[in-house]
Amino acid sequence: MPMDTLQFDAVIVGGGGAGLRAALQLAESGQTVAVLSKVFPTRSHTVAAQGGIAAALGNVSEDNWLWHMYDTIKGSDFLGDQDAIEFMCRNAAKAIYELEHFGMPFDRLESGKIFQRPFGGMTQDFGGKPISRTCAVADRTGHAMLHTLYQRNVKSNTRFFIEWLALDLVRDEAGTVLGVTALEIETGEVRLFQAKTTMLATGGAARIFQASTNAFINTGDGLGMAARAGIPLQDMEFWQFHPTGVLYAGVLITEGVRGEGGYLVNSEGERFMERYAPKAKDLASRDVIARAVATEIREGRGVGENKDAIYLKMDHLGADVINTRLPGIREIAVTFANIDPYREPIPVVPTAHYMMGGIPTNLNGQVIIPGQNGDDEVIAGLYAVGECACVSVHGANRLGSNSLLDLVVFGRAAGDKMVSDIQLQPHHKPLPADAGEFTQARLTRLDLQRNGESVSEVGKAMRNTMQTHCGVFRFPDLLAQGVTEITKVSQRLAHTEIKDKSKVFNTARVEALELDNLMQVALATMTAAQAREESRGAHCREDFPARDDERWLKHSLYFSRENQLGYKPVRMKPLTVDSFPLKARIY
Ligand code: FUM
Repeated sequence: MPMDTLQFDAVIVGGGGAGLRAALQLAESGQTVAVLSKVFPTRSHTVAAQGGIAAALGNVSEDNWLWHMYDTIKGSDFLGDQDAIEFMCRNAAKAIYELEHFGMPFDRLESGKIFQRPFGGMTQDFGGKPISRTCAVADRTGHAMLHTLYQRNVKSNTRFFIEWLALDLVRDEAGTVLGVTALEIETGEVRLFQAKTTMLATGGAARIFQASTNAFINTGDGLGMAARAGIPLQDMEFWQFHPTGVLYAGVLITEGVRGEGGYLVNSEGERFMERYAPKAKDLASRDVIARAVATEIREGRGVGENKDAIYLKMDHLGADVINTRLPGIREIAVTFANIDPYREPIPVVPTAHYMMGGIPTNLNGQVIIPGQNGDDEVIAGLYAVGECACVSVHGANRLGSNSLLDLVVFGRAAGDKMVSDIQLQPHHKPLPADAGEFTQARLTRLDLQRNGESVSEVGKAMRNTMQTHCGVFRFPDLLAQGVTEITKVSQRLAHTEIKDKSKVFNTARVEALELDNLMQVALATMTAAQAREESRGAHCREDFPARDDERWLKHSLYFSRENQLGYKPVRMKPLTVDSFPLKARIY
């Protein structure tokens, strides 16, 4: 039976910062826009972004977007595409002023200008002293941004479908994307959202790991949808472990703490980052600090009962700074670590935080695949933005506060391109006769399965495997076993069962469907990590400790249907300025 169908000019999957920024661009230009969100939009994971958003405003000291560009390229360990990085850094100030004019309540300096704080890897004059470049709303910057964008969208008549889970892309014979199928979580009703343009803005997927700063909703839905539709996933071996997640709870403690003068100490009271990054110390890039913390713990200088953490000291900042700039951190420390940071240090560990890889896109947010002649080929009708996308501005390691920037700069650019794409299409393209059948088959399999395995057991096995085999440091034997193990775990998905069908709400069905998506991400991650025989950014191999530009200065592409990897070159040529040449990365 054909699926009930709703028609829009644009359908956007995901109500976080990227999706809302794009939606706003579309709605303000008069297009009909549907935003599908698993949660109320202001509960999207952007709300958890704490420390800030980077832009070379120069409000505290002289700054320059070229310095920001250099820092981002260096932070990416030269895997970031320099044209995309130029685009982001050059448009950063405009993006901030736009947010300010939308009503985002940035903190202020005495001068009345937007407050800026130092963040890891952000420097003056191409690698000099740390610079204050990160604009903030205390330690709740993402919260402020999300509410601002949501309110603007309400005003502009964006239609929200709240508590809807998008399931699959709908494509025609030519491969053009014509919309998505989606399930209303409350009722179980499934519909087809037909659109002239479709955007995936589903955020991260760090829930593939046991310890994660990510919300439970971060299940890589866009990546799963893309992979099931035969679209490759790029650079999935690169995962950022944030150095300061609360021990055992995983909740993020912002880098802003170190930006405000906090620092890490080991069991000997030593400020150990001085040994690992003599110049930048606690404001080195995240991959460097995460490895330093893991090394201190591994070598027996961890703190706490099990010596499995490091202390983040901030009591010396004083109540004034903590209350004004870091009030949320105090709340988190009290709630999740039973620690009052006015007096005591917080026990922290590196915790899975951010996916540098994702669905490959160009600067307009259009999803691209390798074409016949090695050129990029655009998938008509499909866009991806934000953490689920890989444009690629973060390369092998993202700098803190560049992710909120990525959301708004590329969300706006993609929104603009979608508007022009829509204006060229007077009518919706016809849907294929079998539209929605693939989704129906997946749902029917789940509903009919008997004597299957529980979804949560398979999910647990996936998280165990990823945490053990693909962490901060990567070992050859663990990676090889990891590929075998995660393949076996993924095969169990075909027999998962929603237990106790008489009593479940659709949340059980949703958990099963989300696990399909997470598994695609986990498989891509492990396969790409095992194949990349070098250490670059966040991918650190014991057997290949150095960066190898001769063999590995390239992006990986994981093709899920074929379970195969391909590669494509890094774009080293910026748009308007000279390239930043490869060099050793020292902080
Ligand atoms: O540490 C933080 O506030 C996180 C920021 C980010 O991931 O960009």
